[in-house]
Amino acid sequence: MKAVVVYESLWGNTAAVARAIAEGIGPEARALSTAEATPEAIAGAALIVAGAPIQGFSLPTDRMRDGVKLDTVPAPDVSAPTLRSWLEHLPPGHGRSAAFDTKIRWSPGSAASVIDRELTKAGYNPLAKAEHFLVAGQTGPLKDGEIERARAWGGQLARIAG
Ligand SMILES: Cc1cc2nc3c(=O)[nH]c(=O)nc-3n(C[C@H](O)[C@H](O)[C@H](O)COP(=O)(O)O)c2cc1C
Repeated sequence: MKAVVVYESLWGNTAAVARAIAEGIGPEARALSTAEATPEAIAGAALIVAGAPIQGFSLPTDRMRDGVKLDTVPAPDVSAPTLRSWLEHLPPGHGRSAAFDTKIRWSPGSAASVIDRELTKAGYNPLAKAEHFLVAGQTGPLKDGEIERARAWGGQLARIAG
């Protein structure tokens, strides 16, 4: 089963979660940034897992991204498109999906719910409830145990996908 884990990540936390999820799914899964996940790279994927940081209680917008201070230490990587724009350009397909996000704390909104909705629209139906992973601050690091939890979640997704 071809599986891709697509991510948006400014400071690498969501990217690290995405890599752990891909490891958990197994050797047929690859973690790709929104820049790497071209239509060719995801063609024929039976499972698309997509994740992004929560910004402003939701999936980051280009406007939110433009407001991010570039002089934080470490500096954010803003070279890849937002996941929101990647989802807008996702070619229709047939497969299953799962969504995740990273965030600082309990948040009234979620990025994963928007991701689930957009993946469903493109023909990739969610096979599991969205998952949320916690960072200790805006630039990270991930809270203890989150990488292990991400790997385990990837394993669960693979089992459900069969
Ligand atoms: C502009 C901005 C808005 C944010 N808004 C929220 C928020 O509403 N709720 C929350 O829990 N975290 C919020 N965060 C923290 C991000 O979720 C955190 O930076 C992210 O998980 C780090 O992941 P990354 O290294 O993959 O970018 C915000 C961060 C930024 C830069």
